[in-house]
Amino acid sequence: MRSLIDVLDFSVEELQELIDTANDIIARPEAYSQICRGKKLATLFFEPSTRTRLSFEAAMYELGGQVIGFSEANSSSSAKGESVADTAKVISCYADIIAMRHPKEGAPLVAAMNASIPVINAGDGGHNHPTQTLADLLTIYREKGGFENLTLGLCGDLKYGRTVHSLINAMSRYAGTRVVLISPEELKLPSYVKKDVLEAKGIPYEQTTNLEEAIPGLDILYMTRVQRERFFSPEEYLRLKDSYILTPEKLRGAREDLCIMHPLPRVNEISVAVDEDPRACYFKQVLYGKYMRMALILKLLKEAKAAGKLGVDMSQTLTDVLFCRNPRCICSVEQELKHVFKLSDRENKVYRCLYCEAKAN
Ligand code: NCD
Repeated sequence: MRSLIDVLDFSVEELQELIDTANDIIARPEAYSQICRGKKLATLFFEPSTRTRLSFEAAMYELGGQVIGFSEANSSSSAKGESVADTAKVISCYADIIAMRHPKEGAPLVAAMNASIPVINAGDGGHNHPTQTLADLLTIYREKGGFENLTLGLCGDLKYGRTVHSLINAMSRYAGTRVVLISPEELKLPSYVKKDVLEAKGIPYEQTTNLEEAIPGLDILYMTRVQRERFFSPEEYLRLKDSYILTPEKLRGAREDLCIMHPLPRVNEISVAVDEDPRACYFKQVLYGKYMRMALILKLLKEAKAAGKLGVDMSQTLTDVLFCRNPRCICSVEQELKHVFKLSDRENKVYRCLYCEAKAN
């Protein structure tokens, strides 16, 4: 059973296959309009979302399929105390594929390990958001003509911004990628992404707090919102929320073919005056997201025919020996869940939680 939990679940070739399908859907939408007739997508959104949920729903309708689901945790049985594992087993009896968003990190993985249908991670806490990355990749492909030799600037909340973590994972597999990390000190990229992805793969990167100085060297500028819902302290959020605001003045030194992206929703990070600039790609990015979700649903449904549960590689894991202390991990709320740690760095004997990737301590 194939699911999409982390963007690295797909090879570079498979991502290209999705891009090719999405481009074909854009060119010939009528050829796909009935292809999922009789199939149901369940959208299980335990955390608010408009664009991702509606994008999934529009994707399924445009493929001729149907949609069931809920858009907030209060209207699901989790409010009665049902575990993610049980929800996944139940929904497997009603639908053909699940898209799940959950505030706890690793929840979609737990669902995939228990469902008998494919599960798509539509965002888990501050951890990953692989389908946003699919939208980002199609945008980059169409705007830049490919993925090699690009300098990617990521600006804003690099700590809690899950779209940033997934995009770095994806871009780290293409030759010549360079990364510029632009954030306040307090919102720097977590070390598991910096060490395990950028450093492990030898991706050149620099860190700065100065957006204006970084802009002229960039091919892509990926702006992000400060993630208010992940802060434990409202004062800290208020202090950091307007750290960066992109304006036409700041773009004066930018390349003519710069591609400005944002996963949206925008709060204040890009002034509306920038929307007129031909380099602003964030609304196209939304549209591309729908096409990539269509391509993804098609691929997973096709592969689901070879049934079976998600095969998680349990080699080099420890079960109920180490305990995850991350308050954002799904382990922190589901008492029955086994704590599984995986060896992520043999040399330094580093174990990380299978669900949220927090380091054992
Ligand atoms: C992003 C998310 O949910 O992480 N939004 C989205 O899915 N397009 C970005 C965000 O909320 O800031």
